[in-house]
Amino acid sequence: MDLLTQAAKAVRERAHAPFSNFKVGAAIEDENGAIYTGCNIENASYGLTLCAERVAVFKAISEGAGRLTRIAIVADTPTPTPPCGACRQILWEFMGDVELTLVNLNNQQETVRLSTIFPRAFDASFL
Ligand code: THU
Repeated sequence: MDLLTQAAKAVRERAHAPFSNFKVGAAIEDENGAIYTGCNIENASYGLTLCAERVAVFKAISEGAGRLTRIAIVADTPTPTPPCGACRQILWEFMGDVELTLVNLNNQQETVRLSTIFPRAFDASFL
């Protein structure tokens, strides 16, 4: 398992998911090799929940990361979990058409291109 996946797996343990018990970890690498991690953070008012992927992106941006090049996402599911629709939009905005590495706790791994699971995205090119 590469360092990025290890980081996603480790941060997943910090998930605050008392309502769903569904823990997710995400780790993003920038062009300089720096790694930014995120876990899902739920709230009693459910709708305020933030997914692991968005926490990782927002941490990277707020900490001054360079171009974001890779992301690994880890969840405990029989087959690797893809990002939700809201996260696909955010990933498109800040990472563009990257390869996503999806991994489960059995270390089953899958790579998928964002445009494959998020075709015809709305973005700044339409504004
Ligand atoms: N979740 C993520 O963090 N990332 C995903 O890709 C899918 C869903 C979180 C949100 C919520 O805390 C829990 O998983 C169940 O939906």
